[in-house]
Amino acid sequence: MRPSIKPPLVVGNWKMHGTQSEALTLVRRIRKGLKATKNVEVVLTPPFTALAAVKKVISGSIFRLAAQNVHWEPEGAFTGEISPKMLRELGCQYVIIGHSERRRLFKESDQAIAKKMIASLGIGLRPILCVGETLEERKKGTTTRVIARQLRIALKGIAKSGIEKIEIAYEPVWAIGTGQNATPEQINHTHRRIREVLKELFGKKQAERCRILYGGSVKPGNAGELAKTPEVNGLLVGGASLKSQDFLSIIHQFVPKRR
Ligand code: PGA
Repeated sequence: MRPSIKPPLVVGNWKMHGTQSEALTLVRRIRKGLKATKNVEVVLTPPFTALAAVKKVISGSIFRLAAQNVHWEPEGAFTGEISPKMLRELGCQYVIIGHSERRRLFKESDQAIAKKMIASLGIGLRPILCVGETLEERKKGTTTRVIARQLRIALKGIAKSGIEKIEIAYEPVWAIGTGQNATPEQINHTHRRIREVLKELFGKKQAERCRILYGGSVKPGNAGELAKTPEVNGLLVGGASLKSQDFLSIIHQFVPKRR
């Protein structure tokens, strides 16, 4: 692994799964099963409706809380939206921004994502910025160009020191929920390109410290291989984070090799 000062980060994205009581069952199992682990950060991302309940269960543990989305305004006539300060009040430390499901299904633009980044950082929420190419873009050979565009727009206007508080998640759209994860070669190559863009925008020193996570069909069966992939500083796990045993297995396989 690159000599990143920060410990590895494993994020569980529960998406639109789990009533409050289901979320409580899941988080209790995960908390109980986690082996005493130093040098790792684990972030849980339940639906908005379960944030407060999950927060209570993880208090005093190494787990941190994240939301799956956020609006950029502090308040106002934006029916159905949730603001950064509402998330802070609930105890969120992180927020996922620009997930491909939001980009694709809810037509979130690069510009909207940029506003969410600034608003979140402004209130002390750490964005987990998702970038990634579609299968079509990969086939056309435009992966690097697409990701560079997503990064440049989303990170526009962020001060050099701001990158300290941002995590980048590389999630190829074709790998999400498909069972087909990217190969270590593809991941290493793309993560290096991402870091080059970060260096260009924020300087070498700052960019070296930024964690770049991989997401897309991470499972217990491939977590070991991902742990050995040099450019991977953490994981963003969707489906497998809903099964406590699978999620714990992913964390436990990923972390020891990282020490
Ligand atoms: P997946 O989802 O692990 O189910 O592929 C990853 C994600 O969408 O973050």
